[in-house]
Amino acid sequence: MGSMFDLNGKVALITGGDSGLGQAMTLALAEAGANVVVAYNSNLAKAEETSQQAEKLGVKALPLQVNVADEESVANMLAKSVAGLGEIDILVNSAGINRRGPCVDLAVEDFEATLNVNLKGTFLCCRAVGPAMIARGSGKVINIASLLGTVALENRIPYASSKGAVIQLTKVLAVEWAKYHINVNAIGPGYFATDLNRKLMDDPVVYNDLKSRIPMGYWADPSELGGSVVFLASKASDYVTGHVLWVDGGYLCW
Ligand SMILES: NC(=O)c1ccc[n+]([C@@H]2O[C@H](COP(=O)([O-])OP(=O)(O)OC[C@H]3O[C@@H](n4cnc5c(N)ncnc54)[C@H](OP(=O)(O)O)[C@@H]3O)[C@@H](O)[C@H]2O)c1
Repeated sequence: MGSMFDLNGKVALITGGDSGLGQAMTLALAEAGANVVVAYNSNLAKAEETSQQAEKLGVKALPLQVNVADEESVANMLAKSVAGLGEIDILVNSAGINRRGPCVDLAVEDFEATLNVNLKGTFLCCRAVGPAMIARGSGKVINIASLLGTVALENRIPYASSKGAVIQLTKVLAVEWAKYHINVNAIGPGYFATDLNRKLMDDPVVYNDLKSRIPMGYWADPSELGGSVVFLASKASDYVTGHVLWVDGGYLCW
């Protein structure tokens, strides 16, 4: 069974790989044997620290700066990745932001910034790795969706719209690239304790209200995404495509 999940010799590129869920997924992929590109936006120190942690697991790690919303920046980052570690076998699109607020109070900039990172960034990174994956007839793309891509919560228009679109992008690309044996899936995390949710976690009323909606009864630790990302990155999922793997403690069952 071990070999089904073995990522030795593979190269994984994780956007937002320095932080929260991206960092946890970087380390899980490294633990399974993949060399990792830790694509970070602003925090070089965190990316270097994550890379050092990955190297301690016996793989190569390369921290690279990128703004996923910028086409040229994505192209530069990919060129450096390929030069440093080789062609990308596994792309994880974890970079994301969340601007919350009532519809009437949202600035256009909040809406555009969220769509630019979460949706356009995912599109640009998929499009950038596509040609080489198509040429080789293999690849694994893992997008990060959210419960808010399928259920509604007030004050979440930019984020929920972007994540709903990420789910559709995933399905369309899965269909488009199936003939090249490229798997395109998404992970739909529930509530995880990361910086993205700091405001919610710091408000005990909101924190406990959200907790009460989770059948398993607790906010997850980012490390609890590890098994799912390794599954979707490995041979074990070769016939799985266009799927959203919900990792939500049962949230969507109620
Ligand atoms: N935490 C949860 O419960 C949860 C639930 C569902 C979905 N998600 C999704 O999971 C993903 C990771 O979120 P997280 O919770 O791990 O949050 P996080 O700790 O805030 O990580 C987000 C990462 O995205 C990076 N990023 C932001 N803008 C970027 C840009 N323009 N270019 C490149 N990178 C950029 C951030 O870098 P900087 O900080 O340097 O900008 C950071 O590394 C997101 O897509 C989020 O929507 C999270």
